[in-house]
Amino acid sequence: PSLQSYSTFGLSASCNSIESFVDVPSFLSLYNSIKQSADNAVYILGGGSNSIFTKDFDGTVLVNEIKGISHFDTESHHYLRVGAGENWHEFVTLCMEEKWYGFENLALIPGSVGACPIQNIGAYGREVNALIDKVECVLLETGEQVLLNKEDCQFGYRDSVFKHALANKVLITHVNFKLPKDYELETSYGELAALSEPTPEKVYSKVIEIRKSKLPDPNVLGNAGSFFKNPVVPTSVFHSIQKDYDVVPHFVITDKVTPPTETSDLGVTLKQQDNTKKNEELIKIPAAWLIDQAGFKGKTLNKVRCHPTQPLVLTNLGGATGEDLITMAKNIIASVHDKFGVTLEPEVRLLGSKGLISL
Ligand code: FAD
Ligand code: EPU
Repeated sequence: PSLQSYSTFGLSASCNSIESFVDVPSFLSLYNSIKQSADNAVYILGGGSNSIFTKDFDGTVLVNEIKGISHFDTESHHYLRVGAGENWHEFVTLCMEEKWYGFENLALIPGSVGACPIQNIGAYGREVNALIDKVECVLLETGEQVLLNKEDCQFGYRDSVFKHALANKVLITHVNFKLPKDYELETSYGELAALSEPTPEKVYSKVIEIRKSKLPDPNVLGNAGSFFKNPVVPTSVFHSIQKDYDVVPHFVITDKVTPPTETSDLGVTLKQQDNTKKNEELIKIPAAWLIDQAGFKGKTLNKVRCHPTQPLVLTNLGGATGEDLITMAKNIIASVHDKFGVTLEPEVRLLGSKGLISL
């Protein structure tokens, strides 16, 4: 079957079979029967808005359709337990209607709730880890259900334990959120800071407006959002770039890595990520600016275009191939590296015939 409509980038690719599941027993029965066969590669998919199939995938794609939203509150907090197969933006909109505030900056991000912890989705000054309480998973090897607390998840910028020690080892079944009733609005991002008398509803609407003005709608033009992560570099690298430019947009950050708590029931060691640079001053430079300066904004290679209003997004003009996309991405990486000495890393998940690939 074709995977084209299962990935928002929309390359033409197929796989051996596509199955969906609605709960843990139906997932385990599918997963275990695949694992017993010779052709046993599996890829778990939510909304496909961060996954790009660059070639035919020689395996089975399992689509998460675990639904359900439950809520209770205490004097101080709202607690939500959400099925991983719920649509992210529909969930955010429901929360706005119910006045369960906190998600307003994260409106209109495509994809599923279950994928939100994987790269710790973030936008307009807020990352989802600020609102996550616990993540419910199934260990693929044993079928055991485990509960990860926030510290176990080792959230970072577009990063979590699900990309490291737990990569390809778990199915996320539910995400549990904890929202303080005494919430703080996040309006530090430029266009949000300009709002007069901001409310969660105004932030929600403004974020949708900004996103619609900059980012291509994947229903109209195939894309997977930011193709690369914004690079985080030591101050020395930043200063050497700054010598040649009047203004280099940047953000000073301090790397905060929270050590994981004891999780012996997991059956895997949650190895702590490299912590050597902890608390060193680091600078985040927008990849969009580096790509823009390198001259790629609006440029097209065959059917792949570097988006004219947001050069961090690559788009499929229709009929692009995986090869076109990889060539374009490699050209951008090489040019930015030559010009600035900075190596861009993909933010998207790229797949080849056997599973995830790197560039
Ligand atoms: P998929 O592509 O289906 O999956 C992503 C990864 O998670 C894959 O590796 C997959 O195997 C794994 N996975 C998915 N579900 C599960 C599960 N239940 N259990 C285990 N593994 C799982 N991201 C941001 O952070 N901020 C943005 O502002 C933003 N804007 C975007 C704008 C556009 C137009 C687009 C197209 C994308 C944007 N993204 C953004 C990226 C994307 O929306 C997020 O990464 C989103 O969380 C992906 O969800 P998904 O369900 O589509 O993931
Ligand atoms: N810029 C240019 N030229 C352009 C456009 C932008 O130089 O044509 C520079 C400007 O300096 C601008 C800066 O890039 O200030 C940042 O642009 P923007 O605010 O649009 O955000 P971004 O850093 O490019 C990140 C996320 C987005 C998220 C927005 C909003 C990453 C990799 N991307 O983009 O997330 O929506 O901030 O917070 O961190 C995604 O992950 O898919 C995604 C879309």
